[in-house]
Amino acid sequence: MAEPIDPKSSPDETRRISTSGDIEVATYLEIAKGMGGEKPQPARETVPSERESIVVIDFGSQYSLLIARRVRECNVYCEMVSYDTPWEKIAPLKPKGFILSGGPASVYQPNAPLAPSYIYESHLPVLGICYGMQAITQQLGGEVAPGSKQEYGHAVLHLSDERSPLFAGLDSSMPVWMSHGDRIEALPPGFKALAYTENSPVAVMGNNQNIFGLQFHPEVAHTPQGKAILKNFAFLICGCHGNWTMSNFITERIARIKKQVGSGRVINALSGGIDSAVVATLIHRAIGDQLTCIFVDNGLLRREEVERTEKTFKANLGMNIITIYAADRFLAKLKGVTDPEKKRKVIGEEFICIFEEEANKLGKVDFLAQGTLYPDVIESSASGSTASAKIKTHHNVGGLPAKMKLTLIEPLRHLFKDEVRKVGTELGLPEEMVWRQPFPGPGLAIRVIGEVTKERLEILRSVDFIVMNEIKAAKLYRQLWQSFAVLTDVKSVGVMGDFRTYGYLAAIRAVTSDDAMTADWARLPYDLLARISNRIVNEVPGVNRVVYDITSKPPSTIEWE
Ligand code: XMP
Repeated sequence: MAEPIDPKSSPDETRRISTSGDIEVATYLEIAKGMGGEKPQPARETVPSERESIVVIDFGSQYSLLIARRVRECNVYCEMVSYDTPWEKIAPLKPKGFILSGGPASVYQPNAPLAPSYIYESHLPVLGICYGMQAITQQLGGEVAPGSKQEYGHAVLHLSDERSPLFAGLDSSMPVWMSHGDRIEALPPGFKALAYTENSPVAVMGNNQNIFGLQFHPEVAHTPQGKAILKNFAFLICGCHGNWTMSNFITERIARIKKQVGSGRVINALSGGIDSAVVATLIHRAIGDQLTCIFVDNGLLRREEVERTEKTFKANLGMNIITIYAADRFLAKLKGVTDPEKKRKVIGEEFICIFEEEANKLGKVDFLAQGTLYPDVIESSASGSTASAKIKTHHNVGGLPAKMKLTLIEPLRHLFKDEVRKVGTELGLPEEMVWRQPFPGPGLAIRVIGEVTKERLEILRSVDFIVMNEIKAAKLYRQLWQSFAVLTDVKSVGVMGDFRTYGYLAAIRAVTSDDAMTADWARLPYDLLARISNRIVNEVPGVNRVVYDITSKPPSTIEWE
């Protein structure tokens, strides 16, 4: 028997978040970049209303953004900035404390990154994690040296008799997750060791100025009490109030959009996904009919998707929405195209043409709304010293051709995907929209391997519909990052009744992931796979064989093209 799926079965948390998945519009806009001029600039963004925050100083750890996420889960606003960010950029965040992240360097190496002096001069609480702790040690007069043993993985932390508020409410020993090669050889003056593990005599240190260091990683799931430690730091040590809630966010954003847009007009390209839906709903709440949504049916959507999106936005949410039925235009452009990148380019360019045509018909439009998320901002941030390598260019945030002269509104710029879902729920969006799995901008065109034709799209739609229905019936839809079908261009021999068949091979893909940068194939139950396979070969003419994709990302990608 197959194991039931466990979306947390792999340590996904080690991944650097880089894409929201639901980035269709951004994709098109990125492709359109080559079509002339510079990207329009987003309107100057300041801090969200909650005038308190914790700032993560990033030294390049793969977990840095995860620290910000964990702190926000405690209802405290948190942003990550590069270690060389000047104070002027941080001051508007009104920090109540700093967290220094881990990082790959060794503090005793030449040119190793260190915390800027304002961190210590501010007299605000500081929590150094792993490399961050070593930076504090080095900068405040202690000594760091290569450890005789590297320490990776699980360890047991034992607190010393002197209890710090960092560990308020916690047991005197707890499992923690380590990942370091260097160790604290001598504490800086004024610091005490507050905990130890078998291999680290100083696993936690602190002084009476509220500067602390943790040798372990509290932000990863493998440190079960880690969030409680971060919460203690934010509330008990930094004195945060925990006012970062999605309902505060909504109130503040709506007020801000009202002020920014005034009597102007806004257009928003709807994709049917959660990000563009939340953007549209926030803006609609703020300015009502000054917003027009454009939804392009490119003929590459899933079955019933067009009707579903229209119904939700027009009927349920009462928005101005223009649906453009352009399937034939897209299919004509895709004729004979088999290369995946060419497909993306063709689709992106056609989208922009249609979007521009429609925007022009509307008359004067001032703003373009986009569902850019915080991980996208971090990814594309020029100041991010440690921004991870871009895995695929089609995931980047882009802009429309400058000739459109639109100012960007990006109300989700500060949010993680899970926060967007919370906002969607608070805004009363239907559950099926809030929890919709990401769907790529080029749609089914990159799931029909080889040439995209009307007939092959129809076959894929039928197969995909069965996959989705069965996954939903098995109540697995929400646990999966994505689940879908692929129509390959392989044909194979089969037998049905007493007859030979020669039909297409369809593939099923279902993955768990936190962020789409890495993904694990989902351990779907065998009987579910059997049901899906039986239904496909019985109900979809033209398909006589079904395979399940059991590769993870990396080395594969989620989509086949
Ligand atoms: P890959 O295939 O790179 O996909 O593992 C990662 C995530 O991105 C989505 N994806 C796209 N989204 N335009 C998009 O808007 C694209 O061209 C594109 N290609 C992949 C994919 O569905 C997954 O969520």
